[in-house]
Parts: sequence; C-alpha cells; structure tokens
Amino acid sequence: MNSSVHGLHLPVMLEESIHGLKVEAGGRYVDCTTGAGGHAQAILDASSPGGQLLGFEADPQAVEIARERLTSFGSSALIVNRNFSNLEEECLERNFFPLNGVLFDLGLSSMQLEETGRGFSFQYDAPLDMRFSPDQQLSVEEIVNSYNESDIASIIYKYGEEPASRRIAAAIVKNRPLYTTTQLADIIVRAVGGKKGRIHPATRTFQALRITVNRELETLETALRQALNMLGYGGRLVVISYHSLEDRIVKRFFREESRDCICPPGVPVCTCSHRASIRQVNRKIITPSPEEIHKNPRSRSARMRIAERIITHPEASLNSAGLFFISLTGCLAGIAGCMSLN
Ligand SMILES: C[S@@+](CC[C@H](N)C(=O)[O-])C[C@H]1O[C@@H](n2cnc3c(N)ncnc32)[C@H](O)[C@@H]1O
Repeated sequence: MNSSVHGLHLPVMLEESIHGLKVEAGGRYVDCTTGAGGHAQAILDASSPGGQLLGFEADPQAVEIARERLTSFGSSALIVNRNFSNLEEECLERNFFPLNGVLFDLGLSSMQLEETGRGFSFQYDAPLDMRFSPDQQLSVEEIVNSYNESDIASIIYKYGEEPASRRIAAAIVKNRPLYTTTQLADIIVRAVGGKKGRIHPATRTFQALRITVNRELETLETALRQALNMLGYGGRLVVISYHSLEDRIVKRFFREESRDCICPPGVPVCTCSHRASIRQVNRKIITPSPEEIHKNPRSRSARMRIAERIITHPEASLNSAGLFFISLTGCLAGIAGCMSLN
C-alpha cells in the first residue's frame, strides 16, 4: 500500500526492490502486482538495454494507468489484466522463462484505497464491493448479507485477527441488509465501542472482508510456488507484504524451501525427500527507512523478504542413514588414500 502524490502512487521500498531483485541489463522480470507501474518502470529502467517485464494486474483501471505509464518501453513491457495465480501458465504460454526476478508488492494501491466507489476504505461512503477485478463473483455485500453469523465471525477472526469478531458478526446480522461502507463501519464502532486504540475499530474487519473477497492468502501461496518454478538459478524472489497474515505465508514458504528436509521434528530418518531450492538472502526482515515512512506514511507496515533460487543438490535428499554411509565411505577412502601415499 502506498501514499499518492497528485493521485499517483508512490512505490514502496523502490531502491530496496531493485537491489533485492539484482536487476541487470537484459534480464527477464515479472511484476505480479503492477498497480500504477512504479516498480515496473524502475525494473525496466534498471534492466535496460534488453530487459523485459511481464506485469500482472487484476484491476482493469490500474492496468490502463500502468500501460500508459510504460508506453515508452514498447514491447519490452507487457501488462496483462490477470490474477497472478496464473503466473506459471502465462509465462509458459509466452515462453517467458527462466526468470531473473519476480516481485510481489501485495495488498492494494493508494488509488484503490482513495477511489470512491470501490468500498476498500471506510473513510469514503461507497457500496460494499472490495473486488480487485469486476470479473470476480463474490463481493463484501454478499458476505455480510447472506453468510451466517458464525461464518462471518470466523472470517473476521481468521483474516482480521479481530478479538471482537463474534460481537461484530452478531451486530452485522442484526442490522442487515447492509449496502454501504459507512453503514458497516458505524455498526462496527457501535458493536466494539468508540475509537480507543491506534487504529479505527473497523480496520481489521475491512481487512478480513477484503482478503476473503479476493482470496488473497490462497492466491499468494499458489503464486509463490509458481514463481519459484519459473525462476532461473540465481533468480530473485522479492515479496513486500503489509500485514502479518501475508508475511507469515511468505516466511513459512521461504523457510521450507530453503531446507533440505521438512520432516516433522523428532522423525529419526528423513522420509520427505525435500531439497532446498532457494536461499534466504535476508535473514532479517527489511523495512522502510524512517525517511520513507515520513514521506509515505502508508509504507510503515511494509515488510520485505528476499530469496534466491539455487541449484538443488541431489545428495541433499539423502536420509541420515545415507549420509552416515557417505561419511563412512569417505572416511574409508581417506584412510585408503593415506595408506597408499605412505
Ligand atoms: C500495492 S499495489 C502495487 C503497486 C505497484 N508496485 C506500483 O509501484 O504502482 C498492489 C496491486 O496489486 C494488485 N493485486 C493484488 N492482488 C492481485 C492478484 N492476486 N493478482 C493480480 N493483481 C493483484 C492490486 O489490484 C494492486 O493494484
């Protein structure tokens, strides 16, 4: 999420992204969340001459803005109006692989947040929509007006981590039908009491509903795997997330894929045959500088993780018995070598 200047959108951690992706001339890059094209433009600039970028964007209005912004790059920039869950299919169809880098800058843009009529923010009165793309079937209006109380409560709890989820769900059901963001926000404020904490009482519920409508966590899991499949050796995967649920998925994915064995703890012999396919470039999470947060307050929740595709070592999947055998034969070979030298 980014603040905007004159309605245009400030890309978050731009320099860190270019550096994290190790953008180089002639490289092939995918921007999964093109938005207004700020990161895409910087990637194309840094990969010139010869760089190519395939951008995904679910929101047709953002696609138009990005395409216009990137016209000067001609056929080096291709923005498709598709969900990034189609990354692998699109890359394979277009013969656009192996990739040098893939970027995810998750969530929504300031344009979407500030656009009246989309329903992403309770600051503006708008229909309860929140779909990234008009092609999607499910809207917030359908959830709040047709789901049962316990399903609404579990959505708000699971995707908003809202402790008052049950109280909010009960208030929603009692007051339906609901049609606007202001109606929904007012009901939440009344259900949980006024603005006591740092954030508005409706923030978590709005986040939960947006995540559900756009299936954000499921698509992220799918797309991370696809991105990894399409990366060439040494290729970089950079993910900027804006809340703990997204970051948890990225963290777990990076941790698992950087390990040779993912058997549950306590299993004496490895049975998973899993091999590390990435290395984590930054152990410590990267956050925006105080200057960036000052200039763009909406960047404050951003968290960046970077991974690099590595060559998987075939022996890495050997179980401990196999490793013992290798060490033993190595020792014996060493002894034999020493004896023959003498
Ligand atoms: C934070 S903005 C990206 C801003 C962009 N990096 C820039 O510099 O302008 C996130 C964008 O990703 C899009 N988006 C979110 N989830 C998506 C998905 N699953 N598939 C395609 N686009 C998605 C949103 O519509 C939004 O425009």
